[in-house]
Amino acid sequence: MAIKYLRTSSVKNTTVLLRPDLNCPVENGEVTDDFRIVESLPTIKKLIADGNKLIICGHLGRPKGQWDRKISFKPVAKKLSEYLKIKFVETGAKIPEAKGPHLIFYTGNLMEGVHRQQIQSAKAEDVVFLENMRFYKQEEENDSNFAKQLASLAEIYPHTIGASDKDGQSKIGNGVGVYVNDAFGVDHHSSVSVSGIPKYLPAYAGLLLEKEIKSLDAILKNVHHPFVVMTGGIKLSEKIGALKNLGEKADKILVGGGVASLIFKAKGLEVGISKIEEGEIKTAWQIEKNFKDKLILPLDVVVADEKMDKNSIRVCAPFEVRKNEMILDVGPKTILAFSKEIKLAKTIVWSGPMGLFEKKPFHTATMALARLIGGRGKGRAFVVAGGGETVDAIRQAHQFEHIDHVSTGGGAMLEYLAGKKLPGIEALAQHHLS
Ligand code: 3PG
Repeated sequence: MAIKYLRTSSVKNTTVLLRPDLNCPVENGEVTDDFRIVESLPTIKKLIADGNKLIICGHLGRPKGQWDRKISFKPVAKKLSEYLKIKFVETGAKIPEAKGPHLIFYTGNLMEGVHRQQIQSAKAEDVVFLENMRFYKQEEENDSNFAKQLASLAEIYPHTIGASDKDGQSKIGNGVGVYVNDAFGVDHHSSVSVSGIPKYLPAYAGLLLEKEIKSLDAILKNVHHPFVVMTGGIKLSEKIGALKNLGEKADKILVGGGVASLIFKAKGLEVGISKIEEGEIKTAWQIEKNFKDKLILPLDVVVADEKMDKNSIRVCAPFEVRKNEMILDVGPKTILAFSKEIKLAKTIVWSGPMGLFEKKPFHTATMALARLIGGRGKGRAFVVAGGGETVDAIRQAHQFEHIDHVSTGGGAMLEYLAGKKLPGIEALAQHHLS
């Protein structure tokens, strides 16, 4: 069945249980990268503008069912209240009675019915932001009772909960609120807030999720050629599914970073003390064998010793790397060779940096190619990029607005591009209720 999209539905003046992916890096109680908050704003603002009462649920980090205050969602909730320009209030008990709107960061344990009733009593103009869903072990166990309890938060009339509790007849889903999934970044992992709730509430895909699905489908279903895939980073294991699937459609596959070093190692070359995923040498060898005709490996590399001492930095051919050296970037000849392909491309997918771009001068190739890719985007080529480090590199190169789609999903994007079905998206297509 087809997914129902929020953009083309009339979700108005109701209670919405919204599941975004607001899993942002937090240090010393501050959000250090708000990319996912910013990307979630269009859906949040639309739902508010359409008169809906919003209850936001999501996860931060991996507390594995423990109430761990170090992994509290508070910094993210606070940041969101700043973007929405509404007052931040924290409570684990009574919902403030003062006129809103407020962003109510709710810390009560939802396993206790009293808290559910509190949340249901919040005013329509308030945004309720629930504490980290992964504080509940039931979240990742995909527990159906917990799913029902969360779904019941979206009931408009609290008295129906009492009624359903007494006669055992669930009234959830009888047109009493909806669930919106805008959490592409975590849709590859089954959990209550991602794939459990759609069984109990009418469910929609939010604006960000729609953008993710449609951008990635453009690559999977209707790609324009020449199609260039550029990959790097250390972990081939995470990318292998996407690489195999896209590799079939791609005209050229440009490989740098640790993935290139791994292929060199698989080919029997010396890679010295380069960081590679040792366990994946066989996979690297298969990639090189399967895609021989389209694979472009570095023609030259930038190497240095363990201390990355300035005097030890040199550019050499891949077969000239010494035992005490590590490969830290691709060299100028490689940048030129990759540039030629990027300039011809009509579609580009990029995941994984070319080298240790966080440290100068090993940022050179990643920055140069990021700028070139940005220059092709939004016009000459359709460009999709994603993955934590790639997003950082795009930001560092100031190319964000030039890329057609920067995915909010790392693992999720790679799984989707590998052709896998993501549980969060599948659950939306089931239409248990409408
Ligand atoms: C992410 O940051 O990749 C998503 O939020 C998923 O988080 P997880 O890998 O902890 O499920």
